[in-house]
Amino acid sequence: MKKIIVTGGAGFIGSALVRALLVRGEDEVEVIDNLLTGCEHNLKEVASRVRLHKLDIRDAQAIAPVILGADVVYHLAAIPSVPRSIADPIPSHEINIDGTFNVFRAAAQGGVRRVVYAASSSAYGDTEVLPKTESMAPRPQSPYAVQKLVGEYYASVFHSCFGLETVALRFFNVYGPRQDPGSPYSGVLSLFMKHLLNRTTPTIFGDGEQSRDFTYVEDVAAVCVKAAVATDVAGKIYNAGNGGRFTLNFIWDVLQKMEGVHIPPVYGPPREGDVRHSMADTASAIADLGHAPQFSIEEGLRRTLDWYRTTA
Ligand code: UD1
Repeated sequence: MKKIIVTGGAGFIGSALVRALLVRGEDEVEVIDNLLTGCEHNLKEVASRVRLHKLDIRDAQAIAPVILGADVVYHLAAIPSVPRSIADPIPSHEINIDGTFNVFRAAAQGGVRRVVYAASSSAYGDTEVLPKTESMAPRPQSPYAVQKLVGEYYASVFHSCFGLETVALRFFNVYGPRQDPGSPYSGVLSLFMKHLLNRTTPTIFGDGEQSRDFTYVEDVAAVCVKAAVATDVAGKIYNAGNGGRFTLNFIWDVLQKMEGVHIPPVYGPPREGDVRHSMADTASAIADLGHAPQFSIEEGLRRTLDWYRTTA
């Protein structure tokens, strides 16, 4: 039996990946998570089939024996959020850079076949050109973006210097069930869902015409699994977006229509470190990984809203 590790597997994206792996028939899935932003509840339905190691990736000695001998490590553990990395940069630096180094090192020393690393579209910053292609020079404009980019560089160097197979996937604004709306740093769509169902007014930072390539969480889980098995991809970076972009004003309008309500948003000042537009060029991921996003924005929003309505 092949051991599969998901760091951050109790988080919103990690737990979706764990479920996708179990559906595929992987039967030895282990999670490393310190439960800082993730929670055990996210793994509730699959708890009997998953081993949860409550460990922090900053603790190199603790994680090494868990990672030892794994076939694949999906490294998703991180402190997300651009504004959080500005307000409180030290923990995100330590987890996103030092912790990531520890995961790669444990994998290289522990004979792991491949590490799939959750990188971020924030690496692109405000490029003039859309869509954003992997060959563009990175222009990080927040500590979070720098941290995630350093992880990509380490992924590449662990491949070239230590022979570890790594694939970095740049996630683009992932949304879906289980995204926690409980923090000011939560992803905007989880906050929109909460406001919509509570009939409260969302705040949009800036004019709402900024756009994002919002990607449904199950599509991200699917491309992670593909990145673990694709050939001739070691050491490379791929966009894991949908190849579309939608403004916040458009999304809030769609959600109001779905609920049959009229709640004008409040507009605040633009957020520090914010990128204006984000949209993935998916050609390389389609060609090399067989990436095939399944969920349109309407379908993804509908499924997400249904989940919040019945569960949250
Ligand atoms: C960024 C990255 C994304 C990464 C995420 C991790 C980019 C383009 N994307 O997302 O890949 O996964 O960090 O956290 O860099 N907003 C509001 N009102 C709110 C909250 C947010 O208007 O209450 C706005 C923000 O100002 C921003 C947009 O919504 O313009 C999206 O914000 P957020 O969901 O926090 O994600 P990004 O920072 O875009």
